[in-house]
Amino acid sequence: MKINLRPENKNDYSVISMINDMAFGQETEGKLIENLRKNRKFIKELSLVACMGSEIVGHILFFPIIIKSHKDEFQSLALAPMSVIPELQSLGIGSQLVEKGLAKAKKLGYKSVIVLGHDKFYPKFGFKSASTFNIKPPFEVPDHIFMAIELCNNSLKNIEGTVSYPKEFNKV
Ligand SMILES: CC(C)(COP(=O)(O)OP(=O)(O)OC[C@H]1O[C@@H](n2cnc3c(N)ncnc32)[C@H](O)[C@@H]1OP(=O)(O)O)[C@@H](O)C(=O)NCCC(=O)NCCS
Repeated sequence: MKINLRPENKNDYSVISMINDMAFGQETEGKLIENLRKNRKFIKELSLVACMGSEIVGHILFFPIIIKSHKDEFQSLALAPMSVIPELQSLGIGSQLVEKGLAKAKKLGYKSVIVLGHDKFYPKFGFKSASTFNIKPPFEVPDHIFMAIELCNNSLKNIEGTVSYPKEFNKV
């Protein structure tokens, strides 16, 4: 399936919300993206849309987060949310969004990504249970669905701590 990926621009905002609403069957994730866009840490280059021709069919967002230990803070990214329009799911579009998104994050200098999500989907890109790296979620969640990936060799090796999400995520 031929798709192109590009960073969002302001003409895409309503379509991005709509695709998230359709994929998740609720408005929470679309609203989350709208709220995160108002946060000064939002990185336009890491809000990527997947296009088939001129039509947007998927979206992925990586948002800066912090991993906090009792003495240090480490920069990372949360992969959240991501969506593909229901009629075009299971055709590989989501995988392309993850692969190209991770490559872009690495290019921008990020060293790791954290995701809370499907344990059948994310491990194929190299995500492992975050507990492998001594990284904890800030809430109770089954170990196998809270995952992390190193974007550079051993980039999480000397890191430990609890993920701190921006306040916008509290409503999700
Ligand atoms: C998750 C999602 C973005 C994947 O996009 P996609 O284009 O369907 O992904 P791909 O075609 O590359 O890969 C499909 C694989 O994703 C996994 N997957 C997708 N949805 C899943 C779900 N609800 N539960 C578990 N695994 C799921 C499966 O392993 C699936 O493989 P299969 O087609 O052999 O069953 C898309 O299914 C979606 O928008 N889902 C609804 C919103 C959502 O759950 N977002 C992610 C939150 S973590």
